[in-house]
Formats: sequence, structure tokens, C-alpha cells
Amino acid sequence: MREGYEGTGPGAITPDGCAVDMYARLAVGDEPDVIAGAVPPGAHILELGSGVGRVTRPLLERGFRVTAVDESAEMLEKVAALDGGVRTVRSPIERLDLDEKFAVVMLASFLVHTGDAAVRRGMLRVCRSHVTDGGCVLIQRQSEDYHTNVPRERVDSGGCTIRIVSSEPVGDGVNEVRAEYVFPDAVWTQTFRARPLTRSQFEDALAEAGLKVDKYLTDDGTWVRAVPMG
Ligand SMILES: C[S@@+](CC[C@H](N)C(=O)[O-])C[C@H]1O[C@@H](n2cnc3c(N)ncnc32)[C@H](O)[C@@H]1O
Repeated sequence: MREGYEGTGPGAITPDGCAVDMYARLAVGDEPDVIAGAVPPGAHILELGSGVGRVTRPLLERGFRVTAVDESAEMLEKVAALDGGVRTVRSPIERLDLDEKFAVVMLASFLVHTGDAAVRRGMLRVCRSHVTDGGCVLIQRQSEDYHTNVPRERVDSGGCTIRIVSSEPVGDGVNEVRAEYVFPDAVWTQTFRARPLTRSQFEDALAEAGLKVDKYLTDDGTWVRAVPMG
């Protein structure tokens, strides 16, 4: 387990505190619609941090090709079992070096907010080095009130209560976030480190990697399409 990260509940837990069995049960939201609306039909997507394939599956069903990357073998085992010919690659995202470029690279699940700035730089460098010249990078960032509107909770379409219990500064601009996922018959928790990034800090981080915002895709500014800088 990475320092500052922890997960509790049944089944395997990844180094960043994610529960494999929880993600296998968690419903997908509007992510596939946002993605499909922002990229060419049938594009080959490099999905960084795929987890069990919660979002991968609907993308395959919509006719996209997906190469799924994750550091967790237990997560990737579930992705490999999906129909649709998905390719899996086990690697830390920040050290990925495939001899191939993709029309679409995706870094979702707020991974761009990782507490370790060097890891974030590595992740964005990998996005830049794996996207084709005319391609795009889709990034999911935290909402402006992610760390201030706490505690909060919502019930998702699959009946899971997702609760952000707290977000407390632990120094160096990083917060420790505690989350709970409550199903009728099981509870999982995750504690993780996240670095809040204003829109301009986020755009600076993109620029450092040779990327720039092409479009904010959602009204809340959480989904972003970025492109290589000229
Ligand atoms: C919060 S889960 C989300 C999974 C998936 N994107 C979803 O929405 O269901 C984050 C995933 O990213 C993976 N991950 C986190 N940091 C990583 C890193 N540095 N390199 C590779 N995988 C990483 C974890 O193993 C986990 O499967």
C-alpha cells in the first residue's frame, strides 16, 4: 500500500486503496456518454487506470477499441474477461512506455490529482507521449468544491451510498480524503491523498507536459478534452 493510502472491506485492495470487489459492483454513470460525445466513433482508446473495466465495458459495447492499463493484476483480470477483445497492460501509468500512439488517451477517476506531484507529471507526460498528433487526451478532474463540500453523500443508480467523509490538509498542498461506499450487504472505505488543483493550476500542469485544453466538456468543468500543443 502506498503511504497515505488505505482501503478496508472484503476482497483485494489496490496500492491506492481501491477495493476490487467494490468497483466490480459499482454502477457506471454518465462517463461513457461524455466520452463517446467527445471522441471519434470507434476510436482506439488508451484507458489509464481502468480498474475492473467499469467504464471499459460500455465503451467496448459502443464499438470503441480499448487498451486498458492498471497497476493491479486483480483489477486487470476482470478487464481481460470482458467481451470485445480488450487488451490489458499491467504497469504504473507514470512509467508506461508502449511503442504505439492512440487517437484517444484517457486519464479519469481524478488520477491527475494524485498527491505526489512527480507521479502526476509522469502521468501527464505519458498521456502526451502516447497520443497521436491529431488525437486528444480526456481527463476527469475534481469539481471546484470537491474538498470543501464535505461531508457529502449521494446514492448512485446501483444503490450504493457514496460518502466523502472528510478532506483534511496534510501539508505540501495535499489533502487526505476519506471515502465510504455503502451497499446493503457490504461496506468499503478508501483513504487517499489528493492535491486540489484550480483550473489555472490544472492548465499549467497540462502545459508543462505539452498539452493544452481544447474544451471543457461538462458544465462543472470536471471532464476536459486536451490536445498536444503545436
Ligand atoms: C478509483 S479506481 C477507478 C477505476 C476506473 N477508472 C473506474 O472508474 O471504475 C483507480 C484505478 O487506478 C489504478 N491506479 C491508481 N494509480 C495508479 C498508477 N499510478 N498506475 C497504475 N494504476 C493506477 C488503481 O489500481 C485503480 O484500479
